[in-house]
Amino acid sequence: MELEKKIIRYVAPAFIFVIVAIFIYNLASHGWIPHPGKSTYQVQCAQCHGDKGEGIRVLIPPLKSSDFAIQNFDSIPCWLRHGISHEIVVNGQSFNQPMYPIKLDDIQVANVINYMNKEFFHSDKEISSAWVRERWKHCEQ
Ligand code: HEC
Repeated sequence: MELEKKIIRYVAPAFIFVIVAIFIYNLASHGWIPHPGKSTYQVQCAQCHGDKGEGIRVLIPPLKSSDFAIQNFDSIPCWLRHGISHEIVVNGQSFNQPMYPIKLDDIQVANVINYMNKEFFHSDKEISSAWVRERWKHCEQ
């Protein structure tokens, strides 16, 4: 009986403390609501570019800190809509495998670009679906 009381007195609060600590840690590291572009990224992009935007060696360029994507930021909506099929140089390495067009609407493209801004380009720039539609009017294809 004594032992049971001790358990309730000391172990139970410790348990609650651990659960609360894990909860706060998750909240701090992932935020309350996942970024709206995250699921699109994971379903449509991560199989090639990797969960952390690391790419696949010489085949798929990285998105993480990609100088090519950051410098040609305004072209990203067109790349997603029409694909890319010429040689590009990303962070000093050349790539030349085609990226095929990806079927996404303006809102999904805006969300996935904002997700990349935050996760891979170290930028707090936020673009809108109207910006995406405007950029689509100027695609070279
Ligand atoms: C089937 C594989 C595949 C998928 C899926 C894919 N990509 Fe790509 N992506 C590529 C390849 C290959 C290139 C390089 C194209 C070239 O060399 O011409 C590329 C290039 C890029 C680039 C420019 C280069 C760089 O690394 O900065 C960006 C930005 C990009 N992709 C974003 C995306 C996003 C966002 C998605 C999801 C909506 C996506 N890609 C889905 C294969 C893929």
